[in-house]
Amino acid sequence: MSNTLFRTKNVEQSIRDTEEPEHALKKSLSALDLTVFGVGVIIGTGIFVLTGTVAKNNAGPAVALAFVVAGVVCALAALCYAEFASTVPVAGSAYTFSYASLGEFPAWIIGWDLVLEFALGTAVVAVGWSGYIASLLDNAGWHLPAALGTRDGAEGFGFDILAAALVLVLTAILVLGTKLSARVTSLVVAIKVTVVLVVIIAGAFLIHGKNYDPFIPKSEPVGAGNSLDSPLIQLMFGWAPANFGVMGIFTAASVVFFAFIGFDVVATAAEETRNPQRDMPRGILGSLLICTTLYVAVSIVVTGMQSYKDLSVTAPLADAFKATGHPWFSGFISFGAAVGLTTVCMILLLGQTRVFFAMSRDGLLPRFFSRVHPRFKTPHRPTILLGVLIAVLAGFTPLQELAELVNIGTLFAFVVVAIGVIILRRTRPDLHRAFRTPWVPVVPILSVCASLWLMLNLPAETWIRFAIWMLIGFVVYFLYGRSHSRLARGEEPAAEETL
Ligand code: ALA
Repeated sequence: MSNTLFRTKNVEQSIRDTEEPEHALKKSLSALDLTVFGVGVIIGTGIFVLTGTVAKNNAGPAVALAFVVAGVVCALAALCYAEFASTVPVAGSAYTFSYASLGEFPAWIIGWDLVLEFALGTAVVAVGWSGYIASLLDNAGWHLPAALGTRDGAEGFGFDILAAALVLVLTAILVLGTKLSARVTSLVVAIKVTVVLVVIIAGAFLIHGKNYDPFIPKSEPVGAGNSLDSPLIQLMFGWAPANFGVMGIFTAASVVFFAFIGFDVVATAAEETRNPQRDMPRGILGSLLICTTLYVAVSIVVTGMQSYKDLSVTAPLADAFKATGHPWFSGFISFGAAVGLTTVCMILLLGQTRVFFAMSRDGLLPRFFSRVHPRFKTPHRPTILLGVLIAVLAGFTPLQELAELVNIGTLFAFVVVAIGVIILRRTRPDLHRAFRTPWVPVVPILSVCASLWLMLNLPAETWIRFAIWMLIGFVVYFLYGRSHSRLARGEEPAAEETL
């Protein structure tokens, strides 16, 4: 049994699979496209919305340090991702990497986990987008009925019509082809980065030094409530639940980690990259570096403009300008945020469909989903199926808890990728690696510890939800994937009769 669970798909086989004409994606992306893709998906709800929430509730001005902590965790993971992505340049991200190194069952777990990350991530961002659009509509005097607005804090039955509509439109764009989406993405990324730079530069003139005192607010005990809301680490060690202080920085880091999600999505586009061996590492590390710098700068500026206690939790960047008497900037930032969130949503959706595509091509999910469209050369079937499901999810669900679930899933994927780097170095030392993670196994081990540490700072409730999702995944694997996998059937790459 353990032999079949840990059967690996060899790396040459993975690369050959992508060359079958019917299952081949267009190779059209360059390093610059990838970096734009990365920045396009990384900067989003995290910096535009969560900065205010965690500054106010968990970390005060030290939210800047939380971004540094989360950035370090991601940089360690990025070094591992970059080696894998440049060694196994096929669609599927951590899923593909783990299939080639850890075996089929761990690969299934990770693929299932990535579906959770991307699907819920898309929904979270679509809901954030809908909030900004609704606020712009309000400015213009058009008010959506509450039942059609975002479900956050809303009463009674309702459906977030804007969030669902966004997901459906983006689904259609993706079906038409990656190149088109990359062009749209570049334009939107330029607008988004401009808005972030405006916040930093204009905001720098509005900073009051007294807002940084204290920079790390004293730890405050949390009143009795649902103990499952507390970070798992506090429950494990029996610590009294508290906010702020040094531990508050880590709690904040585990939440603002969402702001970094996306650099791993760059890896999912490896198969569509012209020269993955060279461009992948550049795309991943480049976009991560740019974003970390911008996040730290934005959070320092925003917590300097307003006391952390007064920051808004829905649109903190725009509202800080409103509060300091600059409504024009506020409108401009709201507009840019809404435009920017569009690309985040689109790229998460892209990553999601590519993982699903790769799992289906390997036979772990029905192979019906891995036929590419004859004209557009895109995996249109999983794109449409998942697009519709996510639209429904985004319509009905508030985002806060979903974001935490996305984080735990992504951190778990980081753990598996880092372990995979160590294993593949031992089992396949002969493989050409365009990018080699430095100081193996030290960096991957540090990456595992850092990711686990952030996971432990997430609420116990999030752990329970994650465990339930994974259990469902085990059931699907043992009832379907295990017996239908191409490896199980010993299929040759060209065999296509099992549709
Ligand atoms: N990193 C992305 C965001 O902040 C997912 O919205």
